[in-house]
Amino acid sequence: MIVILIGYMASGKSSIGVELSKKINFDFIDLDDFIEERENAKINTIFKDKGEIYFRKVEHQLLKEILNTKTNLVLSLGGGTPCYAGNMSLINNRHNVSSFYLKAKIKTITERLYKEKDSRPLVAHIVNEETLYEFIGKHLFERAPYYEQSNNSIVIDDLDIEEIVEKIVLQLF
Ligand code: S3P
Repeated sequence: MIVILIGYMASGKSSIGVELSKKINFDFIDLDDFIEERENAKINTIFKDKGEIYFRKVEHQLLKEILNTKTNLVLSLGGGTPCYAGNMSLINNRHNVSSFYLKAKIKTITERLYKEKDSRPLVAHIVNEETLYEFIGKHLFERAPYYEQSNNSIVIDDLDIEEIVEKIVLQLF
């Protein structure tokens, strides 16, 4: 089985993925890290030098590769992965995949993402928290229909990592 974690930037996909994989004794892959290793470049640099369309192509190819070759895996996607290149259909057509949308309020995401925005090319240019809040509101509105295609969704605003992992495990087994 492959457990896929889905959600907006800064929703905790990577840290939850690490803890979940330890708990259920699965391997862990963070798709962004996998892309960075393969491309031998940081996500920021890939966006800057080669552009977002190139990034989305690589993201799609590597997602396919992982789905075709791995098992007993927890996979954390990038925030945009479900929204491009038919990736969500690809995921939903697999019988061995269980996907979880880590759902958070705009306010929760804004507070978290503001602190880490410099490593995210899509929001690095945003100068204050109010503008970021506006941006996320619109962006999430566009992306939610993709995220909502996940098999399960967990509202994470008031939960710590351990509680989220616990909820996922309960739904898995
Ligand atoms: C992106 C999210 C990032 C990364 C890239 C694009 C997005 O991943 O894939 O910067 O389109 O939302 P995280 O969600 O892990 O920050």
